[in-house]
Amino acid sequence: MCGIVGYVGKRNSQGILIEGLKKLEYRGYDSAGVAVFTSAGLEVRKAKGRLAILESNLEDAPLQGNIGIGHTRWATHGKPSDVNSHPHTDNTSKFSVVHNGIIENYLNLKEELIAEGAHFVSETDTEVIAHLIASVYEGDIVKAVQKAVKRMRGAFALGVLTEYEPEKLVAVRLASPLIIGVGEGENFIGSDIPAILEHTRNVYILNDGEMAVLTQEGVELMTIEGNFISRELFHVDWDITTAEKGGFDHFMLKEIFEQPKAYRDTMGARINDAGTAIELPEVKLSAEQIKGIRNVHIVACGTAYHAGLVGKNVIERLARIPVEADVASEYRYREPIITKETLVIVVSQSGETADTLAALREAKRCGAHVLAITNVVGSSVAREADSVIVTWAGPEIAVASTKAYTSQLIAFYLFGLFLAQTLGTQTPEAIRSIIADMKELPQQVESILARSEEIKQYAEEFAKNTDLFFIGRGIDYAVVLEGSLKLKEISYIHSEAYPAGELKHGTLALIEDGIPVIALAIQEELFEKTVSNIKEVKARGANVLGIVSEGNDELQKSVDHVFTIPKTTGLLTPALSVVPLQLLSYYASLALGHDVDKPRNLAKSVTVE
Ligand code: F6R
Repeated sequence: MCGIVGYVGKRNSQGILIEGLKKLEYRGYDSAGVAVFTSAGLEVRKAKGRLAILESNLEDAPLQGNIGIGHTRWATHGKPSDVNSHPHTDNTSKFSVVHNGIIENYLNLKEELIAEGAHFVSETDTEVIAHLIASVYEGDIVKAVQKAVKRMRGAFALGVLTEYEPEKLVAVRLASPLIIGVGEGENFIGSDIPAILEHTRNVYILNDGEMAVLTQEGVELMTIEGNFISRELFHVDWDITTAEKGGFDHFMLKEIFEQPKAYRDTMGARINDAGTAIELPEVKLSAEQIKGIRNVHIVACGTAYHAGLVGKNVIERLARIPVEADVASEYRYREPIITKETLVIVVSQSGETADTLAALREAKRCGAHVLAITNVVGSSVAREADSVIVTWAGPEIAVASTKAYTSQLIAFYLFGLFLAQTLGTQTPEAIRSIIADMKELPQQVESILARSEEIKQYAEEFAKNTDLFFIGRGIDYAVVLEGSLKLKEISYIHSEAYPAGELKHGTLALIEDGIPVIALAIQEELFEKTVSNIKEVKARGANVLGIVSEGNDELQKSVDHVFTIPKTTGLLTPALSVVPLQLLSYYASLALGHDVDKPRNLAKSVTVE
C-alpha cells in the first residue's frame, strides 16, 4: 500500500523522509520518491524498485532543504516505473503532490486539463491532482487545494507543496488514513504512525473531509470547506511493531478489518455514477468478441481458486456462459480444450504463482484471450495477460489471504455484471438492483466485524477439537471450502468442507458426539434442504454453528449456536459469509498460540511448481 511521509522544521528533510519511508516498507511498495524545497526550488527524485535505489541516487546528488514530502508507491494506475512514481508535479514544477488512494474521476479531469494545455508525463491518477491544483491556484495554496479536492471523487490522502509558499505543507484526508505528528519546532505527516514515531508521539488523527496546514511553528486543522477545528492531541504509546499493524495484534486481523475499504476501492469508478452499469475499460474485449465467447475457464490456486469457484457461479448465473474452474497445478496436465472462443480467467493475488503463470501461458499458446484478476499491477501475470482487472486491496502481508480473496469476489461480480449487460442476459432492473446491493456490502461487512467477539467465543470453544467439518450448498459450498482452508492453514486443526447433501454418502460416518460442524445456510432456495442436512449431523451428536441471513430465525431450533449476516442478493452473500469464517480461523489460531501471520511450512508467494 502506498506510504506518505512529510516534514517541515529546522532539520534537513531528506534523511527524515527516507527514514520515515523505511518505517512504511512493511506495507509493500514498488517504487519511491521525495520532493524537497531546496535553494534551487522544488526538486524531485524518484526511482522504481527498493528504497535503497532512491537512497543511492540521493547519495550521488543530495537534497538540502527543511521542508519535503516522500512516498512509497504500490501501483494502481500505471505500471511501476520511475515516471509513475510519486511525487508528481505540474508542468511548471512549482507544485508537488504525494497521494494514497484512488481518484475515480481522473480520466474526466485529465481530459479537461489537457484541453486547458496541461501536458501529462505519467499514467497515474495522481498527476491529475498536481495539474488541477496548479490550474486553480490564485496565490493561496490552502484555497487551491480545497478547490481541487472538491472536484475530485474517490478515496485519498494527499501531501502538497508549492514553491510559491515554501513554508507550508498541506495535507488532506478523504477516506485514506493520514496523521499529523506534532514536534518541537517541527511537524510531520504520515500515512501511518510508524513513519513518524521516531520523532514524536503526539499526533492528530485526521478524519474524513479534514485537512491540515503545517509550518515549522505549528499545525492548523480545518475541514475541506475551510472551517477551523480544534482537537486534542493523541498520545501514541504503541511500540513500533504494534504501530505497523495499525494497533491490531496481527496483520491478518488488520487485513480482515480493511475489507470494507478494499471493497469500496475495488468497486470504485467501475460502477457508473447512476449505479446502472459497470465500466471496465481494462477488459480489452469488444462487444463482438464477448458475444463470441463459448466457454470460460477459471484457473487459480488455493484461496484464489476458491474465489474462482464463486466466480463460476456468478458468470454462469448472470451471463449464462458455461464455466469450468480448475486448480492451476492440474489444468495443463488434463489437456483442457481451449479454443479461440474460450475466455481464460487467471486469478492470483501475487501475480507470481508458478502454476497459475504456466496455465496462463498454455491458454495464450492455444489462442485464448486471458483475463487476469490480480492484486499486483506490475506482476508477471499482469504483464502477460491480455486484460487485467486489478483488485485494489492493497498489499497483503499475512500469509493467509483475506482481503485479496474478497476483492477477487468483487472483481468477479463486476465482471459477471459487465458480461450480462453486454450480452443482455439480465434486465437493466436486475443489474441495477445487484449494483445497489453491492454498494451496501462494505457497510454490511463493518456490521459483521463489529460482532467479532461473538465469533471469538465460538473459535475458543471449537479450537479444543482436532477435527471439524464445514457444510454448505450451492455457492455456500464454495465459501466453506475457503473457510476450511483458512482454518487448516493457521490453526492446524484438521477440517473438511462438504456439500451438505453429500455427507450421507460417506463422511457422515465421522460425525459423533461433540464434533463441531459449521453450517452455512444462506441460500434462500436451498435453505430447507440445508436445514435437513443440519438435522442429520445434529442427530449424530454434532455441535453445530449455523451461519444464516437475518430473518431465518427458525434455524435456531436446529443448531447449538447461530451467527447471522445481513441480507443481500444470493450471489453476493460470499462477500459477507466468509468474514465470520476468517475471524473464526484467526481466533482459533490465536487461542492455540500459533504464529497467525506466518503459519508453518507456508510462503506468501509460491513461485515453484
Ligand atoms: C491461502 C493462500 C493461498 C494462495 C495461493 C495462490 O490463504 O493465500 O492459498 O491463495 O497460494 O496465491 P496467489 O493468489 O498469489 O496466486
